[in-house]
Amino acid sequence: MGLILNDTYVQFAFGSLIILISFILLRRGKHLKLKEPPLVPYKYPIIGHTIDYYKDNKNFIKSCHKEYGEIFSLYVFGRVITLVGKELSSEVFRNHKDFNFSEATSENFPLNNFLNRPQKFFNMLPKVVQVNLSGGIKLYTERVQRQLIKSIDEMIGNGKVLEPPLKFFQFIIAKPIAATLVGEELSNDKELVKSFANAATDFIPFLAVPPVLSFIHPYLHKQLMIIMFKYLNNPFKIHRELIKKKIVSVIEKRLCEMKKTGDNYISPIDILQQYIEILHKDYTIDIDVITDYMIITIFASVHTTSNFLTFCLYELVNNPQYHEELLEEQEQLYKSNENPYYSIEQVAKLRKLDSFIKETMRVNANYVSLQHKTLSSYFTFSNGYQVPKGRIVYIRTGEIHSDKELQGQNADEFYAFRYLKKSSPVTRAEKGFLLFGLGKHMCPGRQFAINEIKVALHYLLLNYDIKKSNSEKIKPKIYGSFKFPSDEGLIFVKKECK
Ligand code: HEM
Ligand SMILES: *[C@@H]1O[C@H](CO)[C@@H](O)[C@H](O)[C@H]1NC(C)=O
Ligand SMILES: *[C@@H]1O[C@H](CO)[C@@H](O)[C@H](O)[C@H]1NC(C)=O
Repeated sequence: MGLILNDTYVQFAFGSLIILISFILLRRGKHLKLKEPPLVPYKYPIIGHTIDYYKDNKNFIKSCHKEYGEIFSLYVFGRVITLVGKELSSEVFRNHKDFNFSEATSENFPLNNFLNRPQKFFNMLPKVVQVNLSGGIKLYTERVQRQLIKSIDEMIGNGKVLEPPLKFFQFIIAKPIAATLVGEELSNDKELVKSFANAATDFIPFLAVPPVLSFIHPYLHKQLMIIMFKYLNNPFKIHRELIKKKIVSVIEKRLCEMKKTGDNYISPIDILQQYIEILHKDYTIDIDVITDYMIITIFASVHTTSNFLTFCLYELVNNPQYHEELLEEQEQLYKSNENPYYSIEQVAKLRKLDSFIKETMRVNANYVSLQHKTLSSYFTFSNGYQVPKGRIVYIRTGEIHSDKELQGQNADEFYAFRYLKKSSPVTRAEKGFLLFGLGKHMCPGRQFAINEIKVALHYLLLNYDIKKSNSEKIKPKIYGSFKFPSDEGLIFVKKECK
């Protein structure tokens, strides 16, 4: 009897499996036959191009481009990805209904899942950053300078060797950002600023888990990350609790005051206030929700800005031929100024520094970036090639940033004043410069970030002689297609007088 039952079960299971497989195959058959971009041939099944892609990304991509042209596909970590260069990248940016950056990003870095929030939870954030942060930059310019001067003094003081420099610059950058996001009073709280500085980088161990499960299916790796994040002890949770604890009393005080004074309430100027005004209902608010808004804002702002400030300082010591001219521009502004702080217009006049920052960003951008997920059932590029729904399309940023037609014949050199004659400031949207993306979703925080980097470099150049310990050029760390600032120490010697 038992045997028969078992047999029946086995048969039933087998039958179901066959039906399921046929169903999947049939469905596949029903799919439109697409004219896909060339898939670069590979030797080993499953592994595909993974090793070539990670070992020497720059040259691997270069050779694929040479052989297969503007658009091609690779098989990396268990999935087919498509890469485009300067001809087709604008089609990815322009068709923002077909291609979505945040959907693609959340597959490798599911911050929404980490925070237990639905995908579209933070949709109003870009607008607040655009309107209230970058748009309201005048309101924050003095505050940013005041806090930067304080944090530079705190971290470097009368001179120091910074090693690794990024750790120091994260804190230097986090303080003025905290002053802008939650107000100047809270930005004097060292513990809070430390959490602002480290919340994003403490994630790196999680991101460094090699996506081995992706060889089976990318979904499995994502689930593993989410499970690890939820059940392992992780420093991020400690930062989140600390940030929550520190802002809760301020929020409650403000809500109470708002209720009492009604229309006569004088709103404090910071991003926290804007979140309170949007999120409160009858003067009550879900503290976890507003904390998560703050966390996402910190994630988008602190690490990116301090990363590129660090890159700028490495390019500065790598290229001493520009020191004199850059310093001259800073001294001119310093001498002509009559007020304790500069206005936005004055900072905008630092055109040589602006060009230097842009050149630093041009040469230190990741080789491949700006992943976009295909949302429509398929997409047809202007050259006839098609990609299916779900395909992640990447931009070959490094190639575009070193293209001779777009950047000029000396594209291989670091030329600090490349953008000076072109009058093309770093925040401008243009085809040949993709560090902030392009199109509808281009980084809304870039005016704020650039202003902060500029002011920080201005004060650092005026106050310190900045050197490296040996004569060799300091190169970024390279992992696959990503570039990170080196860990090598930078020497800051305080100038006698400025
Ligand atoms: C040097 C510093 C920064 C870099 C390199 C950078 C880079 C980027 C990039 C590449 C994107 C994606 C653009 C796209 O989808 O095409 C982006 C989006 C975004 N950035 Fe930045 N960013 C920086 C600073 C900031 C700052 C200070 C903030 C302020 C909070 C910020 C807030 C955002 C937001 C909210 C988005 C999402 C925009 C959207 O989806 O519409 N960023 N950023
Ligand atoms: C694409 O991403 C943006 C955020 O960058 C989001 O607001 C939008 O709703 C997404 N579009 C779709 C169709 O999912
Ligand atoms: C943010 O910008 C909007 C639109 O300009 C404005 O009405 C609002 O008062 C601003 N909020 C803060 C806190 O500055």
